[in-house]
Amino acid sequence: MNYNMENKPSVVMMGLGYIGLPTAALIASRGLKVTGVDIRQNVVETINKGQIHIVEPDLDGLVHHVVKEGFLNAAITPVVADVYLIAVPTPFKGDHEPDLSYVESAVQSIIPTLKKGALVILESTSPVGTTRKIEKLIFDTRPELKGHIYLAYCPERVLPGNIIHELKHNDRAIGGIDEVSTQKAIAFYKNFVVGELHPTNAKTAEMVKLVENASRDNQIAFANELSIICDKAEINVWNMIALANKHPRVNILNPGTGVGGHCIAVDPWFIVSEFPEESPLIKKSREANNYKTEWVLEKIKNKALIFKSEQGRDPIIACMGLAFKPDIDDLRESPALYVTETLESQNFTILAVEPNLATSDDRNLTDYNEAIDKADIIVYLVAHNEFKNLETDPNKSILDFCGVLKK
Ligand SMILES: NC(=O)c1ccc[n+]([C@@H]2O[C@H](COP(=O)([O-])OP(=O)(O)OC[C@H]3O[C@@H](n4cnc5c(N)ncnc54)[C@H](O)[C@@H]3O)[C@@H](O)[C@H]2O)c1
Repeated sequence: MNYNMENKPSVVMMGLGYIGLPTAALIASRGLKVTGVDIRQNVVETINKGQIHIVEPDLDGLVHHVVKEGFLNAAITPVVADVYLIAVPTPFKGDHEPDLSYVESAVQSIIPTLKKGALVILESTSPVGTTRKIEKLIFDTRPELKGHIYLAYCPERVLPGNIIHELKHNDRAIGGIDEVSTQKAIAFYKNFVVGELHPTNAKTAEMVKLVENASRDNQIAFANELSIICDKAEINVWNMIALANKHPRVNILNPGTGVGGHCIAVDPWFIVSEFPEESPLIKKSREANNYKTEWVLEKIKNKALIFKSEQGRDPIIACMGLAFKPDIDDLRESPALYVTETLESQNFTILAVEPNLATSDDRNLTDYNEAIDKADIIVYLVAHNEFKNLETDPNKSILDFCGVLKK
């Protein structure tokens, strides 16, 4: 590739959230000059101070270092670069249709800065065909770039809480709109990824990402359905699954309060929305996981009613955990947050506990020790580490929906 800076490409990262910021920092740590772009002024200011606005182990030190060394700086608008990465949100809207407005607006803002030879890589989880849509957007405005820029899709599959390690070590599927784009993108990722880089086409790479999450959703739906069956059959689902998993070819996942987060609870809909007739199982899994959250809610309400009829007063309910999974602060699409807020909106007396958020958060959070002390009903919604060895009064009602108490 014909790059400047002693052949090290300059990079623009569009979106400095959970994916964009760690990726930008990792690339910068390899000595590439990175301009991180975000539409949120406070995010840009925080990063330019060498600080971070999200919770992710080891990220603060890395960002501090690369900003101080001048390899990463943040800005509101993009600059001319050799490589553009796009990691902006792709939520759904209306009846679970993908909302591509963030991707489109990120692309619109880089279009004026594109020069011949530029490589544009979409990392945002996207419906099949999005990379082609980006190509059209670019060439509609800049037809002179046809045949002179490269475009690829490379999905992210990192685990929040272990992002820095996984960015570097996970294998990646990389699909260009043509063979040369695929090869250019692979050459770029070699700058910072030690995992294997698998070439494919853009459409397949887009589908790979959606299918990975639909597969997880489907397997969790199975576990959640088992938890409801076992509850009725008065069987401890955790013990039962542990025993079933002794089979050498069985690997059942853990049930929980539902499925949340920006990915697994969202991405399967991108398949359903585009292939409604062909995806009944994928849709059913989504519905089963959403149903589990409603079931949890009903269980808590029933327990509260029983308490009230026995004690003659409303119970105080400790909702233990708000994040969408253990040991993170991310509340997006969180079933635990939904349960807690629904109980609150229905005038139940709740103490919301989330040890990964500061108690100064405007959600009116309670410290977990104080909550288990004051509550009549303790509801474990997320299996945070802090909850694993808590001493609780054996006379209190405890509902464990996430297996935090399983021994
Ligand atoms: N978080 C994860 O674990 C994860 C894992 C795999 C894939 N993904 C996918 O990666 C993408 C990004 O997810 P995320 O978790 O980093 O989201 P995020 O919300 O944490 O970050 C996105 C950032 O993009 C910024 N932004 C929005 N529009 C912009 C624009 N036009 N220009 C520049 N910045 C803009 C937002 O202000 C925000 O800071 C999504 O498609 C998501 O599905 C996320």
